[in-house]
Amino acid sequence: MKKSKYTDARISYALQQAETGTAVAEACRTMGFPEITFHPWRKKHSDGMKILEKEAQVSVLDKKALEITREDITEQDGVIVRIGTMDRNAILESKRLKVIGRPGVGFDNIDVQAATEAGVLVVVTPNANTLSVAEHTIALILTFAKDIHYCDRAIRQGRFEVRSRYRAFEIQGKKIGLMGFGHIGRETARLSKALGMDVQVYDPLVPTADIEAIGYGGCDSLSDLLETSDIVSLHIPLNNETRNLIGRGELGIMKKDSLLVNCARGGTVDEDALREALETHGIAGAALDVFAREPVAAS
Ligand SMILES: NC(=O)c1ccc[n+]([C@@H]2O[C@H](COP(=O)([O-])OP(=O)(O)OC[C@H]3O[C@@H](n4cnc5c(N)ncnc54)[C@H](O)[C@@H]3O)[C@@H](O)[C@H]2O)c1
Repeated sequence: MKKSKYTDARISYALQQAETGTAVAEACRTMGFPEITFHPWRKKHSDGMKILEKEAQVSVLDKKALEITREDITEQDGVIVRIGTMDRNAILESKRLKVIGRPGVGFDNIDVQAATEAGVLVVVTPNANTLSVAEHTIALILTFAKDIHYCDRAIRQGRFEVRSRYRAFEIQGKKIGLMGFGHIGRETARLSKALGMDVQVYDPLVPTADIEAIGYGGCDSLSDLLETSDIVSLHIPLNNETRNLIGRGELGIMKKDSLLVNCARGGTVDEDALREALETHGIAGAALDVFAREPVAAS
């Protein structure tokens, strides 16, 4: 193998995911440094670590704070970040950084503009958690439909009379409107259809005809989707176009008995507007896996 000038390269490894380790290693090889030293971070996943250690030396940056600062990566050629953030200064001022890996597909926690300016590659792992997120979406829908969260709390408090107040409904035949028809949107569509739901989709980058050719309903506009869906589920990235995309106006045209599901990213839904819609019964419920500010305070 050709000797690289990056023979002592080091990578910071943020958390478990083997896929990202492989993606970073691949990116490093492409960039010409096959011998890498990894610096892992926090909890270790043994299978993932084995894969990483084939490519590099691995060590842990022991730190509780989610923010990765330039002091954390002075010696590293790469970093794998799961839920932490890397701001502009950390990226621009790090002397050796060449690649940032993120398990999953979203990279809204990384300043990609700064990475581009610094010539630092940002790599993600499309599909790594597609099925998990789609299944989680269905889990949240069923939790709401069967009132599981409410009944679980009541039973634990000894309020068995909850049985006579059980407010469940069947999801078969309900119309689910998917915002975003990428990896996760498509998988959620497949699972929803298998459960007998009527699937419709809005994605400005996927022609309606293509959506209909697969057997789902295509919506030409977001308002079409919002007005006609019993369940609206977001599968879109967070970026300048989608920040607060679901606000007062959008919630205002949703059906009063509808459910909003967000397993995409906090920040795509205006949470003040959502609270207002829930308090005024503008919509029936919201099932959120993500929040604009994480971690959320207890409530
Ligand atoms: N909750 C979690 O743990 C978790 C895990 C993984 C991914 N995610 C989120 O899920 C999102 C989707 O993941 P994916 O793998 O399907 O990504 P993807 O890139 O495959 O698909 C995203 C789709 O959204 C569409 N889109 C963009 N803007 C839109 C808009 N304004 N309206 C409707 N559609 C729009 C795109 O055209 C694309 O088809 C990610 O960006 C990420 O933020 C969340």
